[in-house]
Amino acid sequence: MKTTLPLSHKRPANFSRFWFGAAYYPEHWDEATRADDPARMKAAGFNVVRLAEFSWDLMEPREGQYDFSFYDEQIARLGQAGVSTILCTPTAAPPRWLTVQHPEILRVNAAGVRMQHGSRQQACVSSPVFRDYSRRITQAMAGHFRDNPQVVGWQTDNEFYCHIDECHCPACQQAFGEFLRQKFGDDIGALNRAWGTAFWALTFGSFAAVLTPRRDQPTYPNPAHELDFKRFLTATVTEFQREQVTILRAEQSRWFVTHNGLFNNIDYRGEFTRDLDMLGYDCYPMFHFNPAERAYSQAFNLDQTRAWSGNFIIPEQQSGPGGQQPYFHSNPEPGELRKMTYVSIARGADSLLYFRWRTCRFGAEEYWCGILDHDSVPRRRYAEVQQVGEELQRVGPAVLGTHVRVDVAVAGGDFVNNAAHDTLPFGLPHPRHMSVNLHRHFYERGYAVGLVHPTDDLADVKLFCVPHWVVFDPAWVTPLRRWVEAGGVLVIGARTATRDANNNVVAETIPGSLRELAGVTVEEYGKQNLPAARPLRLTLTGKSVPTDHWYEWLQLDRDTKPLAKWKGRHLTGKVAVSTRRVGKGQVIYVGTYFTQPVADALLPALTKLAGVKSLWPGVEVVCRQNAEKRLWFFINHQERTVTIKQPPRGVDLITGKKTGKTLALRPNDIAVVQAT
Ligand code: GAL
Ligand code: ZN
Repeated sequence: MKTTLPLSHKRPANFSRFWFGAAYYPEHWDEATRADDPARMKAAGFNVVRLAEFSWDLMEPREGQYDFSFYDEQIARLGQAGVSTILCTPTAAPPRWLTVQHPEILRVNAAGVRMQHGSRQQACVSSPVFRDYSRRITQAMAGHFRDNPQVVGWQTDNEFYCHIDECHCPACQQAFGEFLRQKFGDDIGALNRAWGTAFWALTFGSFAAVLTPRRDQPTYPNPAHELDFKRFLTATVTEFQREQVTILRAEQSRWFVTHNGLFNNIDYRGEFTRDLDMLGYDCYPMFHFNPAERAYSQAFNLDQTRAWSGNFIIPEQQSGPGGQQPYFHSNPEPGELRKMTYVSIARGADSLLYFRWRTCRFGAEEYWCGILDHDSVPRRRYAEVQQVGEELQRVGPAVLGTHVRVDVAVAGGDFVNNAAHDTLPFGLPHPRHMSVNLHRHFYERGYAVGLVHPTDDLADVKLFCVPHWVVFDPAWVTPLRRWVEAGGVLVIGARTATRDANNNVVAETIPGSLRELAGVTVEEYGKQNLPAARPLRLTLTGKSVPTDHWYEWLQLDRDTKPLAKWKGRHLTGKVAVSTRRVGKGQVIYVGTYFTQPVADALLPALTKLAGVKSLWPGVEVVCRQNAEKRLWFFINHQERTVTIKQPPRGVDLITGKKTGKTLALRPNDIAVVQAT
């Protein structure tokens, strides 16, 4: 079952079927309610539930005394209704007896405060004591359920690093020193050189003397130190997970293993995901309180997930308004729940479970609303899920094995660049926010857009934008150059390739590793702190465009041409944007930030140059395809009926009807056309 394909935005998730269901917490309900649930799930078209991620205390009420009888009974009863089970290792919520006995497993936050027992995610993943308990409960569960035919797969833990994404406990302190010793081959001099500890007399005499960078310091720490600490954080959670995965795989090879992300300080393109069969993404679009922004932010987040490793499972898809202490989401309006489900499937979900089956009556999430309300009465949200369940009988099998088509891409899915920005933001927007401006330009005009890592398969991509990635590994340049030579249009944003893997500034003139390919050098750069006070505009394809955040004055190599010049202050007449022909392709260097006005002024001409066409503007359109088939998803986010002209010839899997000359979609409606 283990996927052998390398991580790629084009990798399908290798499921034997499309799993559809919900996170289910039978331990919160009485016997009569539990007895009713399986038939109602079956009627909703479910074939799976996810169980037990917060039930360690039920399965091991006292140390070493395991009792799985409760879940044996639930799993069997669900199985009789045709509903299989995904189990979870329950380590996100250790039982109280464990933290009473071992308070040293509690995490310590960046301010140096030890976390209390009382909510969840309180235990540290590098604590050897906690790891020992984690292996024991995982082993006990895996051994117990290995021959249960209803158990089809596992989720490790739950949302690693969701509430607290770093730890400074004594175990982390010790482990960080060991991590660095390994990284620098036991040579503390190598660490001192790599981190530039000559600055502010930071030279270390031993690995044990290096502290985890907490916030209780008079001023800012060394950025190389901080970046390596983030590398340590992803490495420890990866090891913690690997111990669980190894146990699960040794007990039963037919199980798939996943984990639900995405959070900070985890490299989802690294070993963390290579240890899994596929990544999971928990999808909560209602966090966007503005309904007009919801569809776009969901699309961007899904594309971002695919950039790390390809298609994924949604272990938690929002099914009602979520409520926590400080907020309460809007209730999805009629049709919205179904529509959000299809957005997830269109953009890469190969299986999907709702969060949650029924709203709980107690606990910190007693108003995190599920498909059913507290009273179990099936209302409109249930009816909508049931409709999806019926449609997925046809859509589910059709999407498996396909990938999402991408004609234009924005660089995404890089751990080091996210981390490098976080260590030295300078009050500049995150490169991820700038990639939104580029991605959104394409999304709104109906292009097949995605986020793709520069080392990934770019064969079908015609236009590729790199938004301000300060660390650009020199090893990435040669394959990228080949892609340009074959006809690709590469767009590079300001500040790209300015720092090395240690987070130090590169020795070469910038843009460092991309200098030759772009055919430019940056003569001068500066931050725009109050652009309204001293405006800098650029003249692009006849238009005068405002800029923000940053400027660069470019000097051009002989074969590089100016595409836009600066207007304002001492920069007037200097080159702001350049273009250089390389083989059949083109490299464009943009000496400012990709704000929405800059993106919107720049990209139309470049899409034309790259020969990419908009698919169908006005609706969200996504094509999932492989060598054998094409599936077109049309999703109407407008508040009026939209008519699509000349849709692809084929059959709409939702209605079962052949497409004609036009395809009309009411608000919130969807068509999934399998082309013939
Ligand atoms: C997720 C988490 C769930 C639940 C949900 C609603 O982040 O995995 O356990 O807490 O959010 O808040
Ligand atoms: Zn710790």
